[in-house]
Amino acid sequence: METWKQGSGRLPAIFFCLLIAVAVTADRREWEVPGDEGGGSGGHDWAPFLMKKSEVVVKTEGGEIRVFRGHPWNGHPPRMHIGFVTMEPNTLIIPHYIDADLILFLLRGINLFLPAIFNQATTGEAKIGWIHKDDFVDRQLKPGDVLRIPAGSAFYIVNTGKEHRLQIVASIEPIGTDLIADLFTPFYIGGGEYAPSVFAGFDIRTLAAAFHATPEEVGVLTSARSAGPIIFIHGNEADYLQKLNGAVRSAMEMMKKTRRLAQDVDGKIEMEAKEEKRKGACTLTSILSSIFSGEPSTEKNKARRPVGDPVEAPDAYNIYDRDPDFRNNYGWSIEVNEHDYPPLKKSDISVFLVNLSAGSMMAPHVNPRATEYGVVVSGAGTVEVVYPNGTGAMKANVKEGDVFWVPRFFPFCQVAASHGPMEILGFTTSARRNRPQFLVGKNSILRLMMGKELAAGFGVREEELRQVVMKQNNTVILPSWDDNEE
Ligand SMILES: *[C@@H]1O[C@H](CO)[C@@H](O)[C@H](O)[C@H]1NC(C)=O
Ligand SMILES: *[C@@H]1O[C@H](CO)[C@@H](O)[C@H](O)[C@H]1NC(C)=O
Ligand SMILES: *[C@@H]1O[C@H](CO)[C@@H](O)[C@H](O)[C@H]1NC(C)=O
Repeated sequence: METWKQGSGRLPAIFFCLLIAVAVTADRREWEVPGDEGGGSGGHDWAPFLMKKSEVVVKTEGGEIRVFRGHPWNGHPPRMHIGFVTMEPNTLIIPHYIDADLILFLLRGINLFLPAIFNQATTGEAKIGWIHKDDFVDRQLKPGDVLRIPAGSAFYIVNTGKEHRLQIVASIEPIGTDLIADLFTPFYIGGGEYAPSVFAGFDIRTLAAAFHATPEEVGVLTSARSAGPIIFIHGNEADYLQKLNGAVRSAMEMMKKTRRLAQDVDGKIEMEAKEEKRKGACTLTSILSSIFSGEPSTEKNKARRPVGDPVEAPDAYNIYDRDPDFRNNYGWSIEVNEHDYPPLKKSDISVFLVNLSAGSMMAPHVNPRATEYGVVVSGAGTVEVVYPNGTGAMKANVKEGDVFWVPRFFPFCQVAASHGPMEILGFTTSARRNRPQFLVGKNSILRLMMGKELAAGFGVREEELRQVVMKQNNTVILPSWDDNEE
């Protein structure tokens, strides 16, 4: 967001597109494909907190973007939607920006030529380029990377893998009241008939003047014939993009020459205006050229990152490189908040990852600070949520690809199925330390409050209460009932 607010003067070409593109995209259809049956496990009659409805917002041969729509709550619009991006090997999500903040999480890639068992935590990688503040940056991402792309910041993603299908889970956080559609709206920088470029909305003479190029030269920006928002980067589309790249480059060259002339003739004020213009166009050029140049990775992640050792933008934060906050025999959990990755503060979102071993349970707990959105990234199990009035709100079977949410203050727990571990990626609506309150276990509020008063509250004798409450000596992640019996 701040890219636009602070940099609007510096990115005039693209900023201006924003105004025009509102009209261009107002009657788009393809971004609002009505939901198909979604990724639910079926038979969730009693599952108000499963996000069952998903919409395919982009689908091409190169990949798919599917969005699980967040639920409105007490008359408030949903705080976030959850997106799944799937990209085949050698594909590109063409440069665009959207009117929502994104927090991306790169899942393990899927090797298309080997059984799933060979998909290690290191499998798959992506290249992502975006506008960070007023600069263009690109990074090589690996599985476990968390990266924030602010609303309005143009970006592209390349699956650089030759044999891996890339999977990204993203929180999509609509910003403020400037929303164009109720989900989110993409504005394509590059583009074609399907996914038209915002440049296509301008009068060709306006573009020619803005780029200091001939109408023929800028024509390449508007007459594109790309195969949609996710394209293969070989064959025709690559040719087209290369041409586009060349055109922008020559436009740049010409601009530089004109600028030198202008410097001699017009003096300083004119010069500054041109400089501003140059920056806007330059950004686009660097986006395009970087797609093809294959510049070396600039990532600087350490081997093992202690808790609270921050990674600043524009670098990504790798969750698998980090020591868990909590670990016992039954699983582990990691929370990445603003102290670890400061860009999260701007979105006011934390990211967490929980791995429960077969049959284990995340102890019943409450998030006093945040609503939680969870994505099952591997395995299966159940999620149980309780209403404030002490009735069950949901006990739902979940499996890989399912999305659920738990309102702030609602008690809940997750249990992995007995046949294998369950891994849950989550987004919580606060960038601060989450400090969940546990209802069961050695660190539970029942243990902390143990005494006559608590017993009176339950209407039992203290010894009786103690007998129950003191039995579970594990914390946070609890063994399965079978282990308890032993
Ligand atoms: C999760 O835990 C299981 C064992 O309980 C382990 O096999 C698996 O590798 C873990 N997943 C990750 C991503 O560490
Ligand atoms: C408890 O609250 C839920 C949600 O507000 C409601 O649907 C349910 O009927 C309530 N149950 C009782 C017993 O009051
Ligand atoms: C749990 O710990 C308490 C003391 O901390 C001990 O008295 C009790 O026997 C333990 N219970 C189990 C089941 O190990």
